[in-house]
Amino acid sequence: MRVVRVEHLSKIYGHRFNRVAALNDLSFGIDAGEFVGIMGPSGAGKSTLLNLLATIDTPTSGSVWVAGAELATMSESAMAAYRREQLGFIFQEFNLLPDLTVADNITLPQTFVPPRPKDLDARLAHIADTLGLTRLLGRYPDQLSAGQRQRVTAARAVLGKPSLILADEPTGSLDSMAATELLQYLTKLNLEEDVTILMVTHDAFTASFCNRIIFIRDGAYFAEVTRRGSRQQFFNSIIDMEATINGGGRHRAAVDRT
Ligand SMILES: Nc1ncnc2c1ncn2[C@@H]1O[C@H](COP(=O)(O)OP(=O)(O)O)[C@@H](O)[C@H]1O
Ligand SMILES: [Mg+2]
Repeated sequence: MRVVRVEHLSKIYGHRFNRVAALNDLSFGIDAGEFVGIMGPSGAGKSTLLNLLATIDTPTSGSVWVAGAELATMSESAMAAYRREQLGFIFQEFNLLPDLTVADNITLPQTFVPPRPKDLDARLAHIADTLGLTRLLGRYPDQLSAGQRQRVTAARAVLGKPSLILADEPTGSLDSMAATELLQYLTKLNLEEDVTILMVTHDAFTASFCNRIIFIRDGAYFAEVTRRGSRQQFFNSIIDMEATINGGGRHRAAVDRT
């Protein structure tokens, strides 16, 4: 089953003589259960793509389908329900509320709209256990390490059983040990909670935890690499593709200068 379908997606910023095509006729799909990375040089359109999937922004043309529904056709209230029920967010800034405990931070999105789900406490206990947070549930965010805070964000993202988790550079502010640990937990969520993950990253090591990487450049689909063997082999293929995507740009720049 397709969880995400992006069709001929374009996003133009500015107008008249100052137009930037942040996305330019981008198409791809993601199947249920995949852990997909989006990579590409700075300015390739990665954040723009995430914003369109997250309904923070709307496309200039083309369409986005998530869990069988086309975003552009949704009413305001359907959109709000879509964000609450189908999406989970793991962004680099942790966005945890400092005055709430870990437990309350995790359950907050599910308690916005009454009634409080009946199985919420059981679900919280289960997810906290999965992410190694059980003993931290009563703490406050400033009593946690950066890695622990990002795990709380992951717990919050997955609690409501979303179809899709959107992650934007989730390891960006973590040291390499905390980053590795978080990525192992995300892999666990992907497998055990059966949640599809789309993660934007510029880092090949982070990307190597995915099953597939879609490379974009200049707002358009460039290539993709699918994991077949070990994570090390996948990492090497990602590095090779990065060299190709950057090498092409450098070569062209050199030609332009002559
Ligand atoms: N709000 C905006 N207004 C004008 N241009 C924008 C805006 N957001 C992004 N852009 C431009 O669109 C392109 C893609 O940006 P972005 O999606 O942030 O790329 P990435 O996240 O891959 O670095 C860039 O050229 C950027 O300058
Ligand atoms: Mg960006």
